[in-house]
Amino acid sequence: MNNNFEFDKIVWAVAFGMLSVILSNAIGGFMYRTERIVDKRGYQIEVVDAAAVASAPKGLPDVIDIAKIMASASAEAGQAVFKQCAVCHTNDKGGANKVGPNLWGVVAAKVARHTEFKYSDAMAKRGADGKVWSYEDLYRYLYSPKSYIPGNKMAFAGIKKDEDRANLIAYLRTLNDALVPLPK
Ligand code: HEC
Repeated sequence: MNNNFEFDKIVWAVAFGMLSVILSNAIGGFMYRTERIVDKRGYQIEVVDAAAVASAPKGLPDVIDIAKIMASASAEAGQAVFKQCAVCHTNDKGGANKVGPNLWGVVAAKVARHTEFKYSDAMAKRGADGKVWSYEDLYRYLYSPKSYIPGNKMAFAGIKKDEDRANLIAYLRTLNDALVPLPK
């Protein structure tokens, strides 16, 4: 009897011991899980960042075949695109500067050439550096004015569709007494 009682105690002790192991495992597991959840949150933020980078405009390739692009561009189609510019720019010879400078003859012209227009420092510097508005510069600038010439003050998001931009530049080309040769 006495022995049996001892035996019961042992059984209970073992059972209790196992129960504590299970319990502490469960608690430990819960704590571990909590940590994992926090870990996972951190990871998810990274994923969101990566996705944001991936969906951001990738920009234009470093090398573009501007001759080929301009060869198939349509000035007539570009005239309609110019409506977006007309809010701020005139397109006639000797036209007034509005929010932006007059654009008559801008293709191949010196950057920031209108002495009576108050250009941003960024644009004025580009002009002072002797830059001209080449077809490719216009193509890149009009894609994303802000990123192509940081600090310039043209408040315009840019024309993302390559074809529209090429057509628009073909139209800008017609704003001249003599057509500037297309790029070769
Ligand atoms: C919200 C007004 C606004 C709109 C819309 C706008 N521009 Fe401009 N643009 C400006 C301003 C302001 C400047 C002067 C930028 C500076 O000095 O930094 C400028 C400068 C320019 C220049 C440089 C001119 C020079 O004399 O060097 C070109 C080229 C140009 N814009 C083309 C366009 C075209 C093409 C469009 C239409 C797709 C357009 N802009 C739409 C305001 C505008």
